[in-house]
Parts: sequence; C-alpha cells; structure tokens
Amino acid sequence: MAETFEPTSIIVTGGCGFIGSNFVRWVVENHPGVRVTVLDKLTYAGNPENIAGLPEDRVRLVVGDICDEALLEGLVPGHDAVVHFAAESHNDNSIADPEPFVRTNVVGTYRLLEACRAHDVRYHHVSTDEVYGDLALDDPARFTEETPYRPSSPYSSTKASSDMLVRAWHRTYGVRATISNCSNNYGPYQHVEKFIPRQITNILCGIRPKLYGDGKNVRDWIHTEDHSSAVWAILTRGRVGETYLIGADGERDNITVLRDVLRAMGRPEDDFDWVRDRPGHDRRYAIDPTKLRTELGWEPRHTDFESGLMATIEWYREHEAWWRPAKEATEARYAAQGQ
Ligand SMILES: NC(=O)c1ccc[n+]([C@@H]2O[C@H](COP(=O)([O-])OP(=O)(O)OC[C@H]3O[C@@H](n4cnc5c(N)ncnc54)[C@H](O)[C@@H]3O)[C@@H](O)[C@H]2O)c1
Repeated sequence: MAETFEPTSIIVTGGCGFIGSNFVRWVVENHPGVRVTVLDKLTYAGNPENIAGLPEDRVRLVVGDICDEALLEGLVPGHDAVVHFAAESHNDNSIADPEPFVRTNVVGTYRLLEACRAHDVRYHHVSTDEVYGDLALDDPARFTEETPYRPSSPYSSTKASSDMLVRAWHRTYGVRATISNCSNNYGPYQHVEKFIPRQITNILCGIRPKLYGDGKNVRDWIHTEDHSSAVWAILTRGRVGETYLIGADGERDNITVLRDVLRAMGRPEDDFDWVRDRPGHDRRYAIDPTKLRTELGWEPRHTDFESGLMATIEWYREHEAWWRPAKEATEARYAAQGQ
C-alpha cells in the first residue's frame, strides 16, 4: 500500500468542463481542508456556471491556457498537486479538425509535466479507456492496465500520446505521477454534443433523437461522481508511477441507452432517426476495474444506471437555461456532418 498523500492546495485543469467541475464540487463537499485553483481556458466546452456558488475562499478560477508556459511558471509553485482534466474531448470534433486536439491534449500535457517537474509537484493525469481501441462485441475480454494501446481516432490518439508522455516523465525525470483511464461518463453538466445529453435535449426541444451506425456500439457507463471519487482515491492513495482503470461495470449498447431515455421521457421506443455512422467508430469498450477496487478499496455509489439516468434527465429538464445557448450551434454542426 502506498503512503497516503494529503494535499491541501490543488490545481484542477479543465475545472469548468463536465468532469473537472464535478471533481471540484466533489472535493469542496468532501474535503473541507482543500483549496482548489481551477485553470480553464473556457473553450466552447467550459462554463464558469459549472462551479458557480462554491465558496470563494476555497475555489479560485484562473482563466488561461495549459499551453501557456509563463502562466504555469507563475501558477504551479505553491500547489501540492495538479489534477489534469483539461482536454479537447469530443471524438466527432477531432475528426472534423484534429489540430486543437494535438495542441491541448499533447502539448498542454507536456507543459504541465514540465511545470510539475520543475517544482516537484504531484501530478494526476485523467485519461480515457479509448486509448485501448475497441473490442469485438462477442469478445469476453475487458480492458486492463496491461492492454496494449491501439487508439482509433484523432481524439484517442492524442490522449494516448499524452499518457505516454506522463509515463516517460515519471520514469526519466521522477515526476510523481499517476494515470487513470476511465470509461464513458454521464451525469449533469455534460455538454449537449455528447450522446446522452444530445438525446435528452433533442426530446426536450421536440426534435427526434439521432442514432448512428447500427446502434450496437457498446459503451461502459459510469456516473461522473464515481469518476471523481476514483480520481481522489488514486491521487491520495495510489502508487506513484501506476495506472488505474476506472469503470463501474456499466456496459450497454447505444440503442438500449436511447430506448431507456425515450421510455423515461414518455416517448415510443422507436421515435428516433438513424444517421450516418462516425468514421472509424469503435465497437465496444469495457473496463476491468479490479486493480482500483482491490488495491484502493474504491467502490462506485451509482450502481443503478436507470435511476442515475432518470436523475440526469430531471437535471436537463430543470436547467434549460444552462444548455439552451449551445444547442442550436451543436445541432447545426451535426447536421453539416450528416448526423
Ligand atoms: N467525457 C467522458 O466520458 C470521459 C471519459 C474518460 C475520460 N475523459 C477525460 O476526462 C477529461 C474531462 O473530460 P470532459 O468530458 O469533462 O471534457 P469537457 O470537454 O467537458 O471539458 C474540457 C474542459 O477543458 C477546458 N480546456 C480545453 N482546452 C484547454 C486548454 N488548452 N487550457 C485550459 N483549459 C482547456 C475546457 O474549457 C473545458 O472546461 C478529459 O481529459 C477527457 O479526455 C472523459
């Protein structure tokens, strides 16, 4: 068992995005002795509303770019850890325009690693199971920490590249780093471009939901709060230099999730349109979280997907002012791609 690490002051990059803001709120609620500096560029995916209302003496927002070397040089010293969520995160966007993905996901990670190396600051890297490529639908295997990297999309290849940098900076320079690779997240505050919020907000807008491919692609769903608690467990109790996979045994194919949403919102199960598939679309992701569970004793709390989904639908119903401004532009982008 690793020694426990007890940070009192952390930087959370991408803390105005979907998962980063959940982590900030989770830390504020569960660890009263910790102060958080959020570093976020506020791209189209970042919204300061996501962390509004948190106590000002606990959470400070710095608007800036993780690629900005001078900014990091001023900001990183004096913090105990950097927890790195910031990324360009949407596969479909990476296919349309990969350059911001290379910049933020690869160069940004390099800059943060260099800053943590210079000031001996603990670093946790938030990554995705998509670095492992995909599994066949009938393959009994799940991803483990030993699975070879085989990314398919510009998004997952830039995340894979960033993971490699972290491993090298730990091994070569002794940066005190850990990595987590998590499965697909759902919950409140997720951008309307992503699969579940897109379907929910389409129905709320009176638009028929859209399903791409044959609907059989399998994702392994985890509630974002469970992702947050897992990242904290790894940051504070994980072994430096190690990778931990985060998943909550939530495998479901897309058509099942869409039918769950339709049913929960009182619509007929076939009330959706088929659209053109994503090029290179991964078939199935599945995480074996044994290492995280046995070594760190982590357990997910949201184990009932249907009730987590109901609560998420309710959240979108009650927060139209939060998602409405992004909806039209997002659907226009999908329409231009035939999706
Ligand atoms: N969404 C998922 O299902 C999922 C699953 C596994 C891992 N992840 C990883 O979790 C992390 C967070 O994902 P998310 O879904 O919350 O993403 P998101 O797109 O909702 O948020 C990304 C945040 O990063 C900020 N950002 C982008 N570029 C930046 C830059 N150059 N400098 C500073 N800030 C910048 C954005 O403004 C935004 O607030 C990512 O690293 C992603 O790869 C996501």
